[in-house]
Amino acid sequence: MTKPIPIAVLVGGSGSNLQAIIDAIESGKLNAEIKVVLSHNPEAYALKRCEKHKLQAVIHNHKSYSNRDEFEKAVLQTIIESGVELICLAGFMRLLSPKFVARFSNKIVNIHPALLPSFPGLHAQKQAFEYGVKVSGCTVHFVNEYLDAGPIICQAIVPVKENDTEETLAAKILEQEHKIYSEAIQLIAEGRVKISGRKVLIK
Ligand code: GRF
Repeated sequence: MTKPIPIAVLVGGSGSNLQAIIDAIESGKLNAEIKVVLSHNPEAYALKRCEKHKLQAVIHNHKSYSNRDEFEKAVLQTIIESGVELICLAGFMRLLSPKFVARFSNKIVNIHPALLPSFPGLHAQKQAFEYGVKVSGCTVHFVNEYLDAGPIICQAIVPVKENDTEETLAAKILEQEHKIYSEAIQLIAEGRVKISGRKVLIK
């Protein structure tokens, strides 16, 4: 087996996607090593998951920094020290500056709970549900300087049923997120992902 890809997972909430990545690594489906988990939220449940799985967790509470630049410097330092090759955003609710993104060009990925380019931004499941779409889903994409707008690596579709609520839809989407995020990271780990303009080609 080739060397696992060293990754950082940036979190801010419950960390269920972090858990799915941990589980995929532990079950041998994902050839990656989580070098560091970074949270901007000291209360994030994701941190408890780190304790349980003995993962290095670093908290940079954005509220403790005087501005975004200072916060980002701290995040950058942690990322550089950890020596990762891929940064996986998983519920990290802070926008990264164009400068930060440029420094890690095509090395940052994100999971979004809607079929981009529809419903970017916050509360994507609610946006989609209220719009009345018949299908929604989730998207793993590279991060560029615009919000939820980088090249798409993979997507999963979730049909919206008439008896769905915003909550049931969000739960079904989350279930798919847990599958496709690790799959996308594995494709990157295998060197099978190539970006060509806006398109991602999978070898
Ligand atoms: C997920 O819905 C993800 O799509 C979005 O933030 C949420 C994170 O959930 N970017 P969790 O912390 O992984 O449970």
